[in-house]
Amino acid sequence: MDRIRIRGGRPLHGQVRISGSKNAALPLMAAALLTEETLRLTNLPHLADIATLANVLRQHGVELRINGEAEGGSGGSVLELTAARIINARAEYELVRKMRASVLVLGPLLARQGYAEVSLPGGCAIGTRPVDLHLKALETLGARIELEEGYIKAEAPNGLKGAEVVFPKVSVGATENLLMAAALAAGETRLVNAAREPEIGDLAACLTKMGAAITGVGTDTLTIQGVARLHGAEHAVIPDRIETGTYAMAAAITDGELELVGADVGQLRAAMEKLTEAGLRVVESNRGITVSRSNGRLRGIDVSTDPYPGFPTDLQAQFMALMATADGASMVTETIFENRFMHVPELHRMGANITIDGSTALVRGRERLVGAPVMASDLRASAGLVLAGLAAEGETVVNRVYHLDRGYEHMEEKLAVCGADIERVRENR
Ligand code: UD1
Repeated sequence: MDRIRIRGGRPLHGQVRISGSKNAALPLMAAALLTEETLRLTNLPHLADIATLANVLRQHGVELRINGEAEGGSGGSVLELTAARIINARAEYELVRKMRASVLVLGPLLARQGYAEVSLPGGCAIGTRPVDLHLKALETLGARIELEEGYIKAEAPNGLKGAEVVFPKVSVGATENLLMAAALAAGETRLVNAAREPEIGDLAACLTKMGAAITGVGTDTLTIQGVARLHGAEHAVIPDRIETGTYAMAAAITDGELELVGADVGQLRAAMEKLTEAGLRVVESNRGITVSRSNGRLRGIDVSTDPYPGFPTDLQAQFMALMATADGASMVTETIFENRFMHVPELHRMGANITIDGSTALVRGRERLVGAPVMASDLRASAGLVLAGLAAEGETVVNRVYHLDRGYEHMEEKLAVCGADIERVRENR
């Protein structure tokens, strides 16, 4: 397994190009299952998760052409997906266990084929993460669903029927699955208490280009008039707001200045407000944003994660690293996932002063962190540890960086160009 070695304490200066959003790209790729025509996605990031979903889609018979060429490997910046014929409506455990978002094929397969078998994803480091909301909502649209031998077996032989779905809890994935399923269901579907993340808006925009009729985008109630068929389209994936927030914090934690080219700060207002309160200066331009400290040391402030438009849980670990070096104390409350403080014991190894009480962490800022070998437990935790390493005195080695590769495109290269002393230590195979 590769590791990342960082010698910290160097302020970052320069430009970082923000990649296309992983969390927007995944449902967009799954949407290709809804039509026999070609869906052309541009601004796709090069990431392990994109390659995993590409493999899932290939199993279903989707033809993928990356940058215009047929290819068997990972994602590229332009991806054409053609699901002319679904040859297999079963998503195997071996692929789904690698990435939970593979469950996003369930809604489209069921809507198009009237049948789907998708492995249950299993647990994950940050919580149990069930898919009950996806399944109940699909049942409301008339699907018959059984769990057998670790698989979700869903059928709707006469097609899905539009209905009102009231989500008891906001779920990004369930909203996306239902949005795709409802696009081909008969009649009207209303999704109440739907997630409002910008990635949902991006999916709705793409589905609309494919011929879907969706209203209420950006609100918590989405109304979809089902259509008999969808067609091909071209769509550019939105910039990654989590990558944007991560690099904004990299600039701040190292007391440097980064221009984040292509960043869309409009998708990140709550986080940017909090970061500004903590002492970041964010200057918007038509190219993106430039981030630095407003003056001196950062201040400890309290943050609670929430569904959009609240502070994103996917920035919580990075924010905690930032607060570990701030002046004063900070309370960080995690409301989305039950076990998303796995980075805390690792930050302790670097000298951070953090106490956990249930879903709240009290961070008492320190002037300096100290480099140490640490272990990444999940994608965003890894990014938090990299940030801490950039600020720490001495050497930090982040182990298990495959987590990072799932969601950050060329992170060590982007940071190195801006002056970080960072390198990937490849495993001897
Ligand atoms: C998506 C994002 C992930 C982000 C999360 C919350 C992708 C690929 N991933 O994950 O990066 O951290 O949103 O913003 O877009 N839940 C249930 N039952 C369900 C579904 C969810 O109880 O059927 C719970 C989850 O365990 C979690 C909460 O609802 O506690 C929110 O999860 P959800 O919004 O569904 O997250 P994902 O779509 O998996």
